[in-house]
Amino acid sequence: MIRIAPSLLSCDFARIGDEVKKVEAAGADELHVDVMDGHFVPNLTLGPPVITMIKRVATKPLDVHVMITDPLKFAPSYLDAGADTYTFHVEAPDYPAGVIEYVKKRKKRVGMAINPDTPIERLKPYRAVLDLVLVMSVFPGFGGQAFIADVLKKVEILRHDWKFKGDVEIDGGIAPDTIGAAAAAGCNVFVAGSAIFGASDVPARIAQLRATATAAFPVLPA
Ligand code: DX5
Ligand code: ZN
Repeated sequence: MIRIAPSLLSCDFARIGDEVKKVEAAGADELHVDVMDGHFVPNLTLGPPVITMIKRVATKPLDVHVMITDPLKFAPSYLDAGADTYTFHVEAPDYPAGVIEYVKKRKKRVGMAINPDTPIERLKPYRAVLDLVLVMSVFPGFGGQAFIADVLKKVEILRHDWKFKGDVEIDGGIAPDTIGAAAAAGCNVFVAGSAIFGASDVPARIAQLRATATAAFPVLPA
């Protein structure tokens, strides 16, 4: 149930295939791919052609997090490129129900992401149909930012008030000293960029993150 998803945003993009193989061999459960369009967030990363290439070398699922203004318009491109999970932002000025419907029609997993300053209530209409909720614990755009612990209140609401049974993923500032609190609140998928790619012993770091999360994960309400 606990899954560790290294964020490729922190990898060496000139050697992306080797970086994928490295974290897969080190114990990654999936690969988190951050797509930024320079509009929805103040940074630009990669798009469908690069995801197509990652998909050729990857053996683990691709967890594609789109920080883009038009998640509906571009959903076909990202699914064609090989996204196994397509996670878009509730703050994107697009038609969320349409994105969800399209991704489900393609038989892929769909997630919605929520920024630190957006109330969790915004996700309430979609909670029954989502495979995953991605709770941002930093403002999206860059790796290596400090964890915002306050967002864990949203995780508590998801798990305890809404009894959300899907995946709750947390993204931003996840490291050995923050993952325990996130797991204790009810997160079960953990994105980590700098904490994994910046580690001197990557397999040991992934094992440490997994062990800390597993020990802290609560018994969820029925
Ligand atoms: C932030 C991205 C994250 C980021 C996490 O906009 O969505 O996935 O890469 O990086 P760290 O783990 O370094 O905070
Ligand atoms: Zn991300």
